[in-house]
Amino acid sequence: MQQHDIHEEKILVLDFGSQYTQLIARRVREHKVYCEIHPYSIDIETIRKFSPKGIILSGGPSSTYGSSAPHVDTGVFALNVPILGICYGMQEIAEQLGGEVGHSEQREFGMASLNALTDDPLWANLNFPEQVWMSHGDKVLALPEGFTAIGATENAAIAAFANQEKRVWGLQFHPEVVHTVNGQQLLKNFVYSICGCGGLWTMHSFIETTIADIRAQVGAGKVILGLSGGVDSSVAAMLLHKALGDQLTCIFVNNGVLRHDEAEQVQEMYGRHFKMNLRYVDASQSFLDLLVGVTDPEKKRKIIGNEFIRVFEDEAHEIEDVNFLAQGTLYPDVIESVSFKGPSAVIKSHHNVGGLPEHMKLELVEPLRELFKDEVREVGRELGLPSEVVDRQPFPGPGLAIRVLGEVTEARLKILRQADAILLEEIRAAGLYLEIWQSFAVLIPVKTVGVMGDERTYEKVIALRAVNSRDGMTADWVRLPYDLLGRIANRIINEVRGVNRVVYDISSKPPGTIEWE
Ligand code: XMP
Repeated sequence: MQQHDIHEEKILVLDFGSQYTQLIARRVREHKVYCEIHPYSIDIETIRKFSPKGIILSGGPSSTYGSSAPHVDTGVFALNVPILGICYGMQEIAEQLGGEVGHSEQREFGMASLNALTDDPLWANLNFPEQVWMSHGDKVLALPEGFTAIGATENAAIAAFANQEKRVWGLQFHPEVVHTVNGQQLLKNFVYSICGCGGLWTMHSFIETTIADIRAQVGAGKVILGLSGGVDSSVAAMLLHKALGDQLTCIFVNNGVLRHDEAEQVQEMYGRHFKMNLRYVDASQSFLDLLVGVTDPEKKRKIIGNEFIRVFEDEAHEIEDVNFLAQGTLYPDVIESVSFKGPSAVIKSHHNVGGLPEHMKLELVEPLRELFKDEVREVGRELGLPSEVVDRQPFPGPGLAIRVLGEVTEARLKILRQADAILLEEIRAAGLYLEIWQSFAVLIPVKTVGVMGDERTYEKVIALRAVNSRDGMTADWVRLPYDLLGRIANRIINEVRGVNRVVYDISSKPPGTIEWE
């Protein structure tokens, strides 16, 4: 059987800053076609080298006729590669090729009904009128020469245009969002029929290609990887283990702020079950010693992040002749683009397993750097990781330290661990674990009065938190059933010594955050 390179067919998304740019790439990949996002400003030589089968110009917040409007190198129109402009991307095509873009009298946000004005390969298998999602203040007022309007809505006479000869299309609406009911079909028409892609990007072929790449990069070298038990480092570890066997050593650091049984589970799964070379380091005492008396959340994060690096480095030095450091970096961290450099990331300093110092002088191996999170999960499943790992809710690097409010002590951690385990057990039993972005308990070290039996009690409070979110940037609290909440509260108060009250956090983000610290 002939082996195809999964990167043989690529779609290039040029980003003009739309909040939906990542979504475009993910939608294309759902059609099993590899796709990368780059800033609109990359030069034509780079595009030529990238050798895309098609180019998508994203939406964006600017006006094409504004003095500081972002513009693509017009050389893209001479590459003879199919181009699809979406929203701003469509207006950019009009602006660059001699059409006219102007402010729309009726701004259009939300659903619209699209009618086809002509037959077009882009319209294959659609049923007009189609429901589409609009979000624009500008629109194309006059077509560039050689273009035809192929679709219209009530407020936009040119809601879609095409120049079939030049192979350029433009859509005023967003096919990548779910509210455009047949948007996936439309993107499929572009990627398959127009660009001629065949769908080589499957997670199965990704694994084969990546294993070969890892072997080529590492040769007979030795690799270390910080395993946290989270999805990314776990999947990276599995891939590397498959490629390299014992050339890989995973280091798992118990930082003393893990959840109930977590350390044991990691050792069981990776060490005993998958037979990886796993070094388990119980550094919990040194972390907890450093946290004595510390109440400031940012200080907790810094201490834990720095101590992790110290412990990891010490451990790495014990292993002879290491030349590579593997990390579970994902594609969203790699994308260099106008839309993902927002101010949001600096609200809390996030310490992940990454961020190891350069002086370690190790070459990086990042087998997941082309993948979105949902693809990482798929790879994990293909590699035989169980749902407990692959579908695990996110867990912060500083662990329970930022869920024990105030000072982190052994006694407080014990209470939180027990309460958290009960919450998770009940959420799982109710079949809700997979539907919730994150669910956890928080210890509020404030005492309140209660009564148990005939005794008056004066004990601590546990807050329950369950949120839904797409990416952690915004979140809404989950409307958990009352009887489930009641069961969790009852069990915690009855089973966990030191707690006599349970409350449920109903704040969304913003203005709250997901974690309490
Ligand atoms: P917030 O609390 O900022 O959390 O709404 C957003 C997401 O980030 C996680 N989080 C962290 N993850 N190190 C991490 O690795 C951290 O210091 C950290 N703080 C918050 C949080 O669990 C949620 O998923």
